[in-house]
Formats: sequence, structure tokens, C-alpha cells
Amino acid sequence: MGKSLILISLLLLGASAFFLKTEKIHEAATPFADVLPIEAMPTNLFWGNISGVNYLTVSRNQHIPVYCGSCWAFAATSALSDRFKILRNASWPDINLAPQVFLNCDFNDQACDGGDSINVYAYIYANGTTDETCQVYKARGWTNGETCGHFQPCYTCQPNGRCGVPATYLKYNVTAFGNVTVANQAQNVQLMMSALQQGPIACAIDATAEFHNYTGGIFWDKTGANNLNHEIEIVGYGVDPTGTQYWIGRNSWGTYWGEGGFFKVVKGINNIGIESDCVYATPDPNIAVFNSTQTAVKEEVKPYVQNQVEEALERPRKYGRVRRISRESVITSPPSWETVDAATLPKAWDWRNVSGVNYLSWNRNQHIPQYCGSCWAHGPTSALADRIAILRNNTFPQISLAPQVLINCNAGGNCNGGDPIGVYKYGHTHGIPDDTSQQYVAENPAKFSCSGTQISMDCVPPAPPAGVETGNCSAVTNEKLWYVGDYGNVAGPNKMKAEIYKNGPIGCGIDATSKFEAYTGGIYSQWLLLPQINHEISVVGWGVAPDGTEYWIGRNSWGTAWGENGFFKMKMYSDNLGIETDCDWGIPDLTR
Ligand SMILES: *[C@@H]1O[C@H](CO)[C@@H](O)[C@H](O)[C@H]1NC(C)=O
Ligand SMILES: *[C@@H]1O[C@H](CO)[C@@H](O)[C@H](O)[C@H]1NC(C)=O
Ligand SMILES: *[C@@H]1O[C@H](CO)[C@@H](O)[C@H](O)[C@H]1NC(C)=O
Ligand SMILES: *[C@@H]1O[C@H](CO)[C@@H](O)[C@H](O)[C@H]1NC(C)=O
Ligand SMILES: *[C@@H]1O[C@H](CO)[C@@H](O)[C@H](O)[C@H]1NC(C)=O
Ligand SMILES: *[C@@H]1O[C@H](CO)[C@@H](O)[C@H](O)[C@H]1NC(C)=O
Ligand SMILES: *[C@@H]1O[C@H](CO)[C@@H](O)[C@H](O)[C@H]1NC(C)=O
Ligand SMILES: *[C@@H]1O[C@H](CO)[C@@H](O)[C@H](O)[C@H]1NC(C)=O
Ligand SMILES: *[C@@H]1O[C@H](CO)[C@@H](O)[C@H](O)[C@H]1NC(C)=O
Ligand SMILES: *[C@@H]1O[C@H](CO)[C@@H](O)[C@H](O)[C@H]1NC(C)=O
Repeated sequence: MGKSLILISLLLLGASAFFLKTEKIHEAATPFADVLPIEAMPTNLFWGNISGVNYLTVSRNQHIPVYCGSCWAFAATSALSDRFKILRNASWPDINLAPQVFLNCDFNDQACDGGDSINVYAYIYANGTTDETCQVYKARGWTNGETCGHFQPCYTCQPNGRCGVPATYLKYNVTAFGNVTVANQAQNVQLMMSALQQGPIACAIDATAEFHNYTGGIFWDKTGANNLNHEIEIVGYGVDPTGTQYWIGRNSWGTYWGEGGFFKVVKGINNIGIESDCVYATPDPNIAVFNSTQTAVKEEVKPYVQNQVEEALERPRKYGRVRRISRESVITSPPSWETVDAATLPKAWDWRNVSGVNYLSWNRNQHIPQYCGSCWAHGPTSALADRIAILRNNTFPQISLAPQVLINCNAGGNCNGGDPIGVYKYGHTHGIPDDTSQQYVAENPAKFSCSGTQISMDCVPPAPPAGVETGNCSAVTNEKLWYVGDYGNVAGPNKMKAEIYKNGPIGCGIDATSKFEAYTGGIYSQWLLLPQINHEISVVGWGVAPDGTEYWIGRNSWGTAWGENGFFKMKMYSDNLGIETDCDWGIPDLTR
């Protein structure tokens, strides 16, 4: 089944409730007021390229793994995540606010049956919120099976299957929010343009059948449609060579829709109602470290405790990285360490900040919605996504690669563990789509398959009711695939440095221990007699402490609540859980 069938089915079903205007009045809301004269504003604005810098976070798909009418949560969170990125000058890390928080707990909206972006901002103002690594998207909410339970807004799971609230996690807030548009439509273009100077906004539209079909260019509805039933993000505006003015929007229907998930629509005539109902929120620069031990949910925190002997026995199979079964590689040109002399490399190198630029893709948590030993897929996919950004000079769009595809295909392993080389091998042969083709669900499929819906999918209404597990989904075939060229292994500090410096982050095996699990910051070191590789992370650079201690900068896939915003420093040369013994790399091939 192809995409056209999905589109026909949407036509047959008609406009369903994506966007649901509620009558809720928010006392804390303040209408947008920094109105600028039209002449004072640039004629073109695109937050994906402001003097060469991309301020737009990664794109999403609200319709997988099952259909969910959560556009209102996606429009609001992606506009606000982008505004956080603008506020922070695109510095590391990207903040990807979690739509799922509002599907579970925002009772002013109807979860997968529709809602309104302004309620999301009112919720954040009252309660704060967290990022995707605390509350992964499940495409279900309080109206169809999820509950606003004790694990709000942040949780993570352990190898023993237990889940709990991390002791501390990051909480994000807004300092102001409200309507951009007013009832008098004549003012709205100027109001929207003024608000856009500060960052993206969320707007309601009429997602007509023709809009569903959109594949590119400037969309122009000629039927007068303005039944607001969908919400999107506006990220800029412009004017084409013929003088037609347009808005630039971001949808939440995957990157296989429209122009890589984005669209243009004619500006100035309230086409598809796009100039009638827009909202903004101002991100709070004070990001709070929230101490969950002070909340009512503390009895739900079940730390994973083991005695030393148990741990020594369990460690080898606990975290999901299996011993290398193969030493496969594809090497067609000289590897980095033959062309880069480690002795000439800088004392510190960090892909989170190379001359002020952060090249890293978004943070992940492999352990939610439930524990899954997929580190072997996370380390390489994040290293590859980072390398794609490096090769593309960090230009729009930002890319993520889907670890769930590798699990579904058993390409190196699954939730019971695996071999990272399988990821590169799969990428070399088949190419890997981004996360908008396959939502991370932290689960093995009923049957492993490397085709159809298990690689790239889309789902149609209705949202399945509680208890009904499967949605009405079909395979998508026009998704972009990201290929790997050469790949192989690397070990030892000098070769690792050469590879990281020349080509970007690498994957590395380590022997993760309970002590490493409990890491909260600083330069980690632990002596082990014979490190046994049981976990895969990514190494993104190195540095040297004021006392001269040299260290690796590592990225874990245990969420931002762990370590230093999901990252760690690890002593170089010794006592380092075997981090220098078994690393892997792949070079993205952007020509395929
Ligand atoms: C799934 O969608 C197809 C195409 O729109 C439709 O023909 C079919 O009845 C739907 N199936 C279910 C179970 O809803
Ligand atoms: C960004 O915009 C500038 C003009 O403002 C243009 O020269 C450049 O090619 C654009 N970069 C990308 C990656 O599109
Ligand atoms: C962003 O840049 C502005 C202007 O250079 C500076 O004032 C501000 O401190 C920077 N913010 C961050 C988080 O780097
Ligand atoms: C704050 O969160 C609670 C649920 O935890 C919810 O009931 C309440 O409506 C939220 N506040 C707003 C303004 O959305
Ligand atoms: C969010 O910020 C507003 C304005 O500064 C403040 O009134 C509110 O208490 C904050 N909310 C939370 C949950 O911290
Ligand atoms: C959408 O595309 C389908 C398949 O190409 C086509 O049959 C249908 O007429 C289109 N609908 C609209 C409203 O453009
Ligand atoms: C925002 O504007 C809408 C009309 O588009 C209106 O119904 C709503 O009451 C306004 N909300 C606030 C908080 O002013
Ligand atoms: C969290 O709260 C506990 C108990 O009040 C306290 O011991 C601990 O130091 C706090 N941690 C942080 C990071 O504030
Ligand atoms: C990036 O590194 C430079 C040089 O070390 C430093 O001055 C700057 O503050 C760093 N930027 C960020 C966002 O950390
Ligand atoms: C990245 O920058 C380099 C050097 O400026 C240039 O050669 C290359 O074409 C750029 N790549 C892309 C994808 O823009």
C-alpha cells in the first residue's frame, strides 16, 4: 500500500478533529504586543537559515506508531523548542519539548481527539514541562489508554523492568504566552510577522484534502476553505520571483510529506484560515533542575540496587551491547588515522562546540516507554546523524536517524542486545530513514522485517480506543534514506582522536557498571580488572581538566536526566570501563 491510498482514505474520512477550539479563558495569557511597522521588518525571514544558522529543531510525525490527532501539541512544542534554540543561540543541547506530557495530563485538551496550542502554553506556565527523553511520544493520551499517573512528567526504566522518576530532571517554563492574532483580520499579517521576528508561532489552518496532497511549491486554496481543523508551526515568510508572498510552515506529518515536512502557503489573504488563530510563547531562560525527591511521587522512585556479586554476574548482559561477532568493515579510502597525525591535534575537541557551533543531533532515551537494550542502535545512529550535520555544515534541516528501524529489522540486534556494526552494514546496504518514518517504541516487533510498515509508515484516523493496540497504518515508500559509505572499527586513543577529529563522533563499547549508572557529573573513572563490553555509547570529543587530566566527552542514550544533560566525561588512557578498546565508525554517503 502506498501513500496515495492513505490520502484517498483521508479524503473519504473527511476533516477529522485534529484541532479543537476550546472556550477555555487563560487569565495568565497576554496578547502579543511588540508590533513593528511592516517597513521595519525584513521581506524574507526563515528560522532555518538566519545568516547561515539553522534554529529549527528536528521534525516530528504525530501519526505514528498509531494515528493521533495531536497536532495542537506538536505545533506548540516545536514552535517553543525552536524559540529555546533561538534564545540559546543554537548552542548545545537542542531542547525538544515532549508533546506526550500534554496528551497525558492536559485535560483542557482532548489528547488524540484534538486540542488547542494555547492550552499547552497555559499548562507549561502553570506546571512547567520536560523534554522527549523524559516522556517519549506514544501517540495516545488520557482519552485512549494513557493516564496522568505518577510518572509525570519524567520517568525512565531499568534493566530489571522497573520504571521510576529520576532523582533530578530538567524543567522548562515560559515567561509569557498568548494570542498573536486578533478578531480584526486586517491586522493579523503584521502581528504574525512581528511575532515571527522573535521566533516561530503556532497557527490553526484548514487542512483540506488538497493540503494533504501537497508535495511542494506555494499552496493556494481556491475554494475559500477556512474550517480550522489542524495546527501547524510557522517558521518564516518570503516572496517568490513573481512577487507572490508566502508563509513558511512546518507540519507534523513526517519529513516524507510536503517539502521535507515543511510547506509554503500564500500570505496576506487568510488562505486556509492561516491568519486567524495564532499563538506565541516566550521561553524562560532559567532552566530549572527539578528535584523529584521533593515531590509527592517520591514513593514511586525505585532505585535499582544490587549487591556486587549479582552485579558482576549480570553486567555482561545488562545493558544491551553484545560482544562483537564480526569485525566486518568496508574501507575504500585510507582511514583517518593514516592521514591525520594525532600528535598535531588540538588538546581539546568537542563537536558540541566547534568555533561556537553545535553539530550534535537530539538527545535520546533508549529506556522509555519501557526498558530496551538497544544501546547498540542508539550509539551509531546518533554518531551518524551528528556526522551528517558536520558534512552538511550544520545547515537546515536537522536530521535524526531511526534506531527502531534497526530493531524492527534485527539489523545487528534488537531490544535484547546487539552489535553496532549491524547498523553501519544496514545503512551501507539499505539506507536508514529518520525518526518520522519510525517512532521509537523500545519494543521488539511481533516479527522482524526489513520492509513495509516496519521501515516507514503512516497511519490514518480514527485514533484507536484504549485497549485496541493496532492502528490503521500502511507503508510509506517516498521517505528519504541516509546511506553509509565506508565503515569499520577503531581502538586506541590516537586513532580514536584522528577519527573523531576528521569525521565526527564515533560509537564505542564500554563495561557499564552500577557506579556508571549513578553518574551525575565530573570526570568518571573506575578501575575494572577485565572490562567486558556490555554497553554502547558515542564519543563526541575530548578535553583536558585544569589539573591536566585528559578525558573523553561521551554521549549516552539514557535521557537528559542522567549525567551532564545526558552526556559524560571519561578518563582517558586508563580506568575507563574499556572505552578505548572497541569503537566503531561509519561515513555518511550524501551522494546516494
Ligand atoms: C483502514 O483504512 C482503509 C483505507 O482508508 C479503509 O478502507 C479501512 O476500512 C480501514 N480499516 C479499519 C480497520 O479502520
Ligand atoms: C542561507 O541564506 C543565504 C542568503 O541569506 C544564502 O546565501 C545561503 O545559501 C543560504 N544557506 C543555505 C544552506 O540555504
Ligand atoms: C546568545 O547571544 C547573545 C548575544 O551575543 C548573548 O547575549 C547571550 O548571552 C547568548 N546566550 C547564550 C545562551 O549563549
Ligand atoms: C497543570 O497540571 C495539572 C495536571 O497535573 C492539570 O490538571 C492542570 O490543568 C494544569 N494546569 C493548566 C493551566 O493546564
Ligand atoms: C513559569 O514562569 C512564570 C512567569 O515567570 C511563573 O509565574 C510561573 O510560576 C512559572 N511556572 C513554573 C511551573 O515554574
Ligand atoms: C489527491 O491525490 C490523489 C492521488 O493522486 C488524487 O486522486 C486526488 O484527486 C487528490 N485530491 C485533491 C483534493 O487534490
Ligand atoms: C485568542 O483568540 C481567540 C480567537 O481566535 C479567542 O477565542 C480567545 O478567547 C483568545 N484567547 C485569549 C486568551 O485571549
Ligand atoms: C534534592 O533534595 C534532597 C532532599 O531535600 C537533597 O538532599 C538533595 O541535595 C537535593 N538535590 C538537589 C540536586 O537539589
Ligand atoms: C564554545 O567554546 C568557546 C571557546 O572555548 C567558548 O568561549 C564559548 O563560550 C563556548 N560556547 C558555548 C555555547 O559553550
Ligand atoms: C560545507 O562547507 C564546505 C567548505 O566551506 C563546502 O566545500 C561544502 O560544499 C559545504 N557543504 C554543504 C553541503 O553545504
